[in-house]
Amino acid sequence: MANQLLKGKKGIIFGALDERSIAWKTALAAVAEGAEIVLTNAPIALRMGKINELAKLCNCQVIPADATSMADVDALMQKSMEIFGGKFDFILHSIGMSPNVRKAIPYTDTSYENFLKTVDISALSFHRVLQSAMKNDVLNEWGSVLALSYIAAQRTFPGYNDMADTKALLESIARSFGYYYGFAKKVRVNTISQSPTVTTAGSGVSGFDVFLDYAEKMSPLGNASAEDCANYCIMFFSDYTRMVTMQNLFHDGGFSNTGVSSLLFEELYKNVNE
Ligand SMILES: NC(=O)c1ccc[n+]([C@@H]2O[C@H](COP(=O)([O-])OP(=O)(O)OC[C@H]3O[C@@H](n4cnc5c(N)ncnc54)[C@H](O)[C@@H]3O)[C@@H](O)[C@H]2O)c1
Repeated sequence: MANQLLKGKKGIIFGALDERSIAWKTALAAVAEGAEIVLTNAPIALRMGKINELAKLCNCQVIPADATSMADVDALMQKSMEIFGGKFDFILHSIGMSPNVRKAIPYTDTSYENFLKTVDISALSFHRVLQSAMKNDVLNEWGSVLALSYIAAQRTFPGYNDMADTKALLESIARSFGYYYGFAKKVRVNTISQSPTVTTAGSGVSGFDVFLDYAEKMSPLGNASAEDCANYCIMFFSDYTRMVTMQNLFHDGGFSNTGVSSLLFEELYKNVNE
């Protein structure tokens, strides 16, 4: 499928933990499309995950950075400029973690300490990355910055917990920062709202298998896979989406615009009659 859509482009990819990660698939797709990349993840993920295997496959360097540390993110930007020999073109923010979700603490009984961590790791980190990119002037004009979201930002999905509010903030940051970065440097900023996908972060949500099955049956095209999501990211790093910014783009097989599917309707009807 590779068409060298990213030939000559360079970028940073956050969040590849293992081969199931959306960032992992995106890194492979970006390199197959001709891009040069730098991989990054939190220091603990570097120790526990498989990112060094991916770096070999992508022939690239890994720079540790905790996305909640401004110093780490600034150092990452500067080091990436050194590696690339100048400015670059795209950034993928593929980061999500909620201690409340991890510890199965109910939303209505939240730990605010955990909530603040969720927001810092999963949403403010996007602002931090954008702020550092702009301040260090690392992106070429018509560059593209993407983060990954989920429809729970707009509609309630019990179990998604404080990640729902956090994704709403993430999408808002794309709109707000996109305005400033667009006028200042012609850089575009968007979020992609992805179908439920079997990954470490995804599977941590309570009742995830039900989410997955429900979404599969509700979506006319079925759930979008991590590979599909990677391809969509590639399009957003390419010049084919130069004029798209400040958007949240649903990549969900039609789920977000479906009220009910006959598949689910028939299943519920059968259950009622049995
Ligand atoms: N899997 C799904 O169902 C799904 C659906 C929609 C959106 N998303 C979003 O996609 C993105 C990627 O998640 P994934 O599903 O590929 O799971 P994943 O677990 O493979 O990736 C999450 C990544 O976040 C990184 N991370 C956590 N804390 C960090 C920190 N302090 N600094 C830097 N990195 C940190 C982890 O190390 C990991 O690599 C997340 O934003 C997630 O919310 C996932």
